Amino acid sequence: MDTRPIGVFDSGIGGVTVLKEIRKLLPKENIVYYADTARVPYGPRPASEIQEFSLDAVNFLMKKDIKLLVIACNTVTAVAFDYIVRNVDIPVIGVIEPGVRAVRNTKDIKRLGLIATKATVDSNAYQNRLKSQNNDLIINAKACPMLVSIVEEGWADTEISKLIVERYLENMKKDNIDALILACTHFPVLRNQIEEYVEDVRIIDPAEETALELEKVLKAYNILNESEADGEVEFYVSDSAEKFKSIAKNLVEIDRVDEVEIGY
Ligand code: DGL
Repeated sequence: MDTRPIGVFDSGIGGVTVLKEIRKLLPKENIVYYADTARVPYGPRPASEIQEFSLDAVNFLMKKDIKLLVIACNTVTAVAFDYIVRNVDIPVIGVIEPGVRAVRNTKDIKRLGLIATKATVDSNAYQNRLKSQNNDLIINAKACPMLVSIVEEGWADTEISKLIVERYLENMKKDNIDALILACTHFPVLRNQIEEYVEDVRIIDPAEETALELEKVLKAYNILNESEADGEVEFYVSDSAEKFKSIAKNLVEIDRVDEVEIGY
């Protein structure tokens, strides 16, 4: 039994899609969520910078006495996972292994579409892992950086997002993919429009599998929170607390968001 909070980190609002699944599966857990909204997006940045920014976030969360860290960001998982693990002495979970498992659990995929940030696509983190378990899988990977900005602006489910989703996915749709993995935690916010456009293509969101992995690791380390009461979530951002709150409230219950100055 361990009532200390779990740290959840993303560059912005995207990690809230993972947080939502964690809350559903593990409502007793206390959580501290940190979004680096002053420096989002991370996707177009070089790996060294993403690592440096991630460490700022992790150091902030460590001061909150977290018992485990969830990197609720594919970009950070792709380019900074090992780096973070080397710098902390608590268990760390990323979203890519769960994402790969979610693909494995989806039957009969021959052609997989993968949409993510540029850093995630260029890292080949997904492609290498997916290929190592099924060398015949055809992967059509595409960086969709504007989708991150659209979600951060609160422009999901608008005419603008519809047009941009369609523009990014046009060729993938022609490529007859069987399934599409949302390999950026911002993208589930656009799931309705994505689903509508690609029609009968199955959509894979690693978030649920990430929550399941979290549960497994909490049990393995014997650090589950078995309190009677439901846990609480604290939100911190490095910029624009009100804007973050106005968008995140469509995804999870959110009371207050505090702005903190980190790393710059
Ligand atoms: N949410 C992040 C991810 O899953 C990336 C967004 C960004 O570019 O900062 O990759």
